[in-house]
Amino acid sequence: MTKPSPERYSAVAVVLHWAMALGIFALIGIGLTMKHGNIPKAQVVQLFQLHKSIGILILLLVIVRLAWRLVQAPPALPSVLPALERKAAHAGHAALYFFMLALPLSGWALVTTSRFNIPTVLFGLVVWPPMPFLADSADKAAIHEVMEAFHKYGAYVLIAVLAVHIGAALRHAVKGDAPLSRMSLFGGKAGGSAK
Ligand code: HEM
Ligand code: HEM
Repeated sequence: MTKPSPERYSAVAVVLHWAMALGIFALIGIGLTMKHGNIPKAQVVQLFQLHKSIGILILLLVIVRLAWRLVQAPPALPSVLPALERKAAHAGHAALYFFMLALPLSGWALVTTSRFNIPTVLFGLVVWPPMPFLADSADKAAIHEVMEAFHKYGAYVLIAVLAVHIGAALRHAVKGDAPLSRMSLFGGKAGGSAK
């Protein structure tokens, strides 16, 4: 007999979801401020390092998160949801995972190919290496241009996908058909295993 699906995400998945959400909101805020804010150059330099540090942390965490997802399957979406909404939710989640991987990778690629050659020092402590294969590429300038555009417009698309994700989560919470407690830090016993 197959085990019934748990009603909640596991504790590990919940903690990773909210820690990464916090990190990504910070990255969006810092990214937009360092590029478009009217602030002194010295602070811009610090913000770039902070942005790169949190961004690389997100890259490492998303690898852990995807590995965990393979080990511990997420709870099935409630069967009361129409099939189309379940498909849309899965597509939205896949898009979020895509950007959680693609944005840090494109960020790493764009700093590796930058003509300024500024090292990435994570939280002022650990030197992060340039991306293998790209550091010695003959087409650095062209790659840089593509990665920079991808990173910028990718981040804008992520913001739009996040608006839909948060809107959908709140809408279902109000309707009560897919409660927020499925991903809540405090909503009772976090199920890792089937009930
Ligand atoms: C940067 C911000 C965020 C990102 C990248 C993000 C990403 C994700 C992803 C990828 C999943 C699917 C997890 C899986 O199946 O493995 C998910 C689920 C979920 N997220 Fe977010 N999320 C963010 C912010 C938020 C916020 C602010 C809320 C609350 C309003 C929220 C509420 C939820 C809920 C309730 C689920 C579970 C959906 C279900 O019932 O299955 N998320 N999120
Ligand atoms: C989920 C992860 C990330 C998100 C959401 C994100 C978001 C952003 C945003 C919103 C901007 C401003 C775009 C603009 O309006 O021009 C930006 C710029 C930038 N990001 Fe990220 N970022 C992430 C990861 C990274 C990583 C890991 C690095 C490098 C290691 C990085 C390096 C940069 C750089 C150098 C810029 C400035 C690019 C330019 O001069 O046009 N980012 N990022």
